[in-house]
Amino acid sequence: MTNDTSGDVRLSGISKTYGSFTAVHPLDLTVPQGSFFALLGASGCGKTTTLRMIAGLEEPSSGTVHLGEQDVTALPPYKRPVNTVFQSYALFPHLDIFENVAFGLRRRGIKSVKKQVEDMLDLVQLGEQARKKPHQLSGGQQQRVAVARALINHPKVLLLDEPLGALDLKLRRQMQLELKRIQTEVGITFVHVTHDQEEAMTMADTVAVMNAGRVEQLGSPTDLYENPRTTFVANFLGTSNFIEAEVDSKSGDDIVLKAGGGKLVLPEARCSAPTATGGKVLVGVRPEKISLTPADDAGDIPEGRNRITGKIADSSFIGVSTQYVVDSPVCSEFEVYAQNIDRDARLVPGAEVVLHWNPAHTFGLDAAQSLLAGTTGSAGIQEEAAV
Ligand SMILES: Nc1ncnc2c1ncn2[C@@H]1O[C@H](COP(=O)(O)OP(=O)(O)O)[C@@H](O)[C@H]1O
Ligand SMILES: [Mg+2]
Repeated sequence: MTNDTSGDVRLSGISKTYGSFTAVHPLDLTVPQGSFFALLGASGCGKTTTLRMIAGLEEPSSGTVHLGEQDVTALPPYKRPVNTVFQSYALFPHLDIFENVAFGLRRRGIKSVKKQVEDMLDLVQLGEQARKKPHQLSGGQQQRVAVARALINHPKVLLLDEPLGALDLKLRRQMQLELKRIQTEVGITFVHVTHDQEEAMTMADTVAVMNAGRVEQLGSPTDLYENPRTTFVANFLGTSNFIEAEVDSKSGDDIVLKAGGGKLVLPEARCSAPTATGGKVLVGVRPEKISLTPADDAGDIPEGRNRITGKIADSSFIGVSTQYVVDSPVCSEFEVYAQNIDRDARLVPGAEVVLHWNPAHTFGLDAAQSLLAGTTGSAGIQEEAAV
């Protein structure tokens, strides 16, 4: 498999317009052979359109699609080495599971299908269910049949469009792991479309975050989470706190910023904004990186940590952690997640606190963007999508 590029998906300047509306802006993207790749974004951002252009179900308005070395832009879907699994499994209700999986082989006139179908049913762990009809299986099992039915054609690339969308949360979690296992075992390229950030992060090696028809950022789940380059990505993947600050000076590899009356330190390497003195930077920090100390004990906080003061506005105990909302002069509604190890009975609404964190956990973004971009359910996504 080394250096095999026959399963690479390469999109060059590919776009799709419907009348005057651009669903996908010109997009360059390479998905390497054998990777598990996720297209992540809110409803309407162009994920399905992109996937359908790879499958040949939608004609691009510009650009080309390559699979490996082959330009497939002009090829009809059935001539592309690609199969698609949809949210609706679309199994044949009157055929049993074995025959559903055998369908692609029989259509190609292959007579001895038994071994291949059995291997495929074993792969998706449905060997025992071969003679059942689809309606006798659970949703998760039916989706596994759909995956087996697609994989038996030996595609170079499997496209999955919100394949777990119809399943309840618990089953979805199981199936995420199951699909990941299957992908690792067969080693072919998976391109998975989802609006669920947790799902994309759990399964994919590389995630492309889409926003209003464009890829906003592409990277590994940890890279996107730790080093978001826009507020959209910072908010869409998890929760972020932002402080508007001004560049004061440089100190070694760090930038020193002024926020409110105090100073904050940010590693320069983690800042995607211009850093000229006097310029504005959005200082970001994730809720789980922050510690809370009652103001009375502020003297116990080690030197060298970023710190701001505030007052607890709200707290909710959710077992594994307590989630606090803190009002601070530099940021209203600061979110802090404290792991449930030793709970300090003084950390209750109304308490004056110091929030502090390791400067290394700070990231810096360009201040000329909406703080709300990418916040679920807020005007943020609507605003962006309407542009
Ligand atoms: N056939 C079509 N005609 C007009 N607009 C379309 C068509 N298909 C999709 N769109 C629009 O293109 C945008 C992207 O759609 P889609 O790719 O399905 O988004 P997603 O899968 O991310 O939810 C949406 O605004 C959608 O309404
Ligand atoms: Mg879609």
